[in-house]
Amino acid sequence: MLDGKKTLFSGMQATGNLTLGNYLGALKNWVTISDEYQTFFSVVDMHSITVRQDPAELRKRARMLLTLYIAAGLDPEKNCIYYQSHVSGHAELSWILSCFTYMGELSRMTQFKDKAAKHADNINAGLFTYPVLMAADILLYQADVVPVGIDQMQHLELTRDIAFRFNNIYGDVFTVPEAYIGKAGAKIMSLQEPKKKMSKSDENPNGSIYLMDDPDTVIRKFKRAVTDSEASVRYRDEQPGIKNLIDIYCACTGKTPQETEREFDGKGYGDFKMAVGEAVVSVLKPLQDRYKDLSGNKDYLDGIIKANAEKAQYLSNKTLRKVQKKIGFPEKIR
Ligand code: TYM
Repeated sequence: MLDGKKTLFSGMQATGNLTLGNYLGALKNWVTISDEYQTFFSVVDMHSITVRQDPAELRKRARMLLTLYIAAGLDPEKNCIYYQSHVSGHAELSWILSCFTYMGELSRMTQFKDKAAKHADNINAGLFTYPVLMAADILLYQADVVPVGIDQMQHLELTRDIAFRFNNIYGDVFTVPEAYIGKAGAKIMSLQEPKKKMSKSDENPNGSIYLMDDPDTVIRKFKRAVTDSEASVRYRDEQPGIKNLIDIYCACTGKTPQETEREFDGKGYGDFKMAVGEAVVSVLKPLQDRYKDLSGNKDYLDGIIKANAEKAQYLSNKTLRKVQKKIGFPEKIR
């Protein structure tokens, strides 16, 4: 708890093009619940370098992402929106927590296994300790709640384990965070391979809807979405393509899967796909328009970046100092 309100932390990697999965699984929920909390939304650029990045591209994408947070509806006067690399406490706490995390725990992380398989030529130590940095992000602000998609649950469980372990030794230092998973959209699948998560790094662009896709592209991708030969809009595991489209439709319209089944009862997949595409366009279009307005406003964005980095640095220092004292680092002479 910071300044009387419960605290929320979340972040996204500044890597690749943001997908509809990132939006429906995370960003949309951030906007919905942000008013209730003191919030920190970080562009986690330090996480991004676990995979090789082109420096100019990383800088550009980080700024795009920060702008998108605002375009999605997060008021930067009320929400602390900042670059992870601007706040030194993330790296400092991460080192300390890595001494309280076991190799066995890290080697069980499925994201590590997946990324190690994908980047076999660069299985660096950062890729392995990535979840510790994520734990540091969250614990640094004493976050009570962390809104994420289902794919981040394993990392969040580890964060809780680290916090419990540390608290058991040193007393109540960290708030143990809870995940917040939205009702719809917590795991959006690829439109081409509906058993695989929709991902920024998918090589097939038709599998993902990118937040900056124009309406024609969105509709075209939905028309091509892989379905089945059942010819009925039913929400069930045996029809993963249709189930995914229903999830997307529900997350965009606020309807339930049952309402959706009734709405499209007796209608063909063509009609249904068109309706899903249109629902997605009506969510993305206002976001894209706001993004265009904002991205031209350099001074405004620079001001936000500076002010929020200072705020995050100041607030995170409170936790860091407490941790350093607990573990026995000598106090600084001021
Ligand atoms: P990242 O950048 O891969 O994804 C950002 C957020 O989007 C969610 N997400 C999805 N949700 C539903 N369906 C999908 N297909 C989908 N793909 C992605 C993710 O669950 C996530 O919420 N390690 C994190 C970033 C991070 C972080 C943190 C998050 C670093 N530190 C601290 C929360 C708290 C990551 O790589 O997310």
